[in-house]
Amino acid sequence: MKIFLDTADVEKIRALAATGLVDGITTNPTLIMKAGREHKSAIVEICKIVKGPVSVEGIGTTADELVKDAREFSKLAPNVVAKVPMTAEGLKAVRILEKEGIHTNVTLVFSAGQALMVAKAGASYCSPFVGRLDDISEDGMALVAEIVQIYAQYGFKTQVLVASVRHPEHVIEAAKLGAHIATVPPDVFEKLFKHPLTDKGIRQFDEDYRKALESLKGRK
Ligand code: E4P
Repeated sequence: MKIFLDTADVEKIRALAATGLVDGITTNPTLIMKAGREHKSAIVEICKIVKGPVSVEGIGTTADELVKDAREFSKLAPNVVAKVPMTAEGLKAVRILEKEGIHTNVTLVFSAGQALMVAKAGASYCSPFVGRLDDISEDGMALVAEIVQIYAQYGFKTQVLVASVRHPEHVIEAAKLGAHIATVPPDVFEKLFKHPLTDKGIRQFDEDYRKALESLKGRK
């Protein structure tokens, strides 16, 4: 399973990419705003740090506007993926862009019906937003299960990119369901390394190692 970082914070990306475990990046206009950077220069820098797919979202509502923006972004780096919204116009743009060899990620997917249309349009990635569904008392992971099942049934090539991840449990559930990718905020990425018993065990082994050294010294 691939893990992407869901952020436009260039320094955070640099630090976490050093683990060698970051397979790609997703950004959106909100994340770019939070990073406080000029959009294009931030994307160029991010694409140099992470060689995997970097999703970049433009603005616009018509297929023509979305295609124009995506073509511009795709010139910034070879690993740019055009993020388009889950609308009929967005899926029109997907068909045009994929034919041109520009990979697309359809964002703001909240139903299995939408996900089916995304795959039929030939998008490279489909992004169900699990956290935002949980926020309104719906079941985000149940949607992921439906999409994984539908895509497997027909051999669709579109990859399921679990988005709007709020905690490590979302990532574990996504992995159990066989989703291709989870895109996670930096704090969730860091939490995936952690367990209190690991920390406790390390402390204990460290202490015992020192005690063993001391007792060897005592014997000399
Ligand atoms: C993914 O591509 C989106 O940018 C992101 O996961 C949205 O998450 P949010 O619901 O936390 O804003």
